[in-house]
Amino acid sequence: MMGYGFDPSLSEGSLKPPIFLTSTFVFENAAAGKRFFEGVTGKIPGGAEGLIYSRFNGPNQEILEDRFALWEDADDALVFASGMAAIATLLLTFVRPGDCIVQSGPLYAATEGLIAKILGQFGVSWVDFPSGATREEIDAAIAKGKAKGRVSLIYLESPANPTNQLVDVEAVAAARDAAFDKGERPPIAIDNTFLGPMWAKPIAQGADLTVYSLTKYAGGHSDLVGGALVGDMQLINQVRMLRNTIGTICDANTAWMLLRSLETLELRMERAGENAAKVCEFLRDHPKVESVGYLGFLEPGSRQADIYNRHCTGAGSTFSLYLKGGEKEAFAFLDALSIAHLAVSLGGTETLASAPAAMTHLSVPDERKAALGITDNLVRISIGVEDPDDLIADFANALNAV
Ligand SMILES: Cc1ncc(COP(=O)(O)O)c(C=O)c1O
Repeated sequence: MMGYGFDPSLSEGSLKPPIFLTSTFVFENAAAGKRFFEGVTGKIPGGAEGLIYSRFNGPNQEILEDRFALWEDADDALVFASGMAAIATLLLTFVRPGDCIVQSGPLYAATEGLIAKILGQFGVSWVDFPSGATREEIDAAIAKGKAKGRVSLIYLESPANPTNQLVDVEAVAAARDAAFDKGERPPIAIDNTFLGPMWAKPIAQGADLTVYSLTKYAGGHSDLVGGALVGDMQLINQVRMLRNTIGTICDANTAWMLLRSLETLELRMERAGENAAKVCEFLRDHPKVESVGYLGFLEPGSRQADIYNRHCTGAGSTFSLYLKGGEKEAFAFLDALSIAHLAVSLGGTETLASAPAAMTHLSVPDERKAALGITDNLVRISIGVEDPDDLIADFANALNAV
């Protein structure tokens, strides 16, 4: 994450890549310009041999993509202006009117809205199965999807936001392979924002593409918005063509900041994960706490524990805290925090806490909230890299105020 993909000798010996603030790139001669365009338009396979125009790509974004692909042993990566820009570009690449998307549920609320409310207006339907679904339930959802239309994409999110439920990617891949002939298999894309790229590498379990909000752990400093897709070259190239057309790529400055972030990604995530384990251990036994939804506390022998053991190498640092009581108790806890900040988002160096039922998921209908466990007493916490004893003291004080 320090040197790969950048040669200082090409930039006046600069240790760090300069930020390339340019909208366009000068061709050495007209024939080179033609060759680059033949690549970028797909007239000649293999992509453009050089840089053309900043809506397509730039040096900072290219280095970032090379380094991000390394994390997951993937063919290639694409970076985007936000996680939602990545997801929207992915959906528009593969889904056509009349198609059906088979998806795990719940998904991040904006992803659910984009599929149901926006793509729905263009005649796209969807079928979902619960995140923890068995092979039989996944088979049934695929069969239902096939009855509705051409299944052109299987879209997963694991752990799901905000329930932390894990999806059995191996079972989804096996179900997909059994249900479709080789040439007709829809790609499997999975939102890996919560545990990736440190603690989950779903491409190894059969996913074709991973999806990221780089705004979270990858960016990690709560100072930028970005997104990425990582995976199979042939699929990535299809998405690249659309990104070139609509310009959902991130800008050079954001790409540079993300390069800075990747240098410490492992250190930050490791520390945040260790902190979360200590904080959750403290919270679990507190008399004002009903339960803690943390991947480190899965019941041995349960289906979720089985998926965790096969798919994950760490429990992450984002979890659900269920307080005894309701909204009043959740708000009293949030208002009394002094080190953790009351804000939505996750994966930054600072610990953040929020009340999903009253904030991010306010617009979700009550029955669906109840079915997903998004109750008024739920506080979602993303642990950062502070001193763990300071965090425990902060949470102890806040619980005293409840
Ligand atoms: C799991 C997940 N996916 C995608 C997104 C969207 O990312 P962005 O806000 O970078 O567009 C979020 C944002 O919270 C998220 O939590």
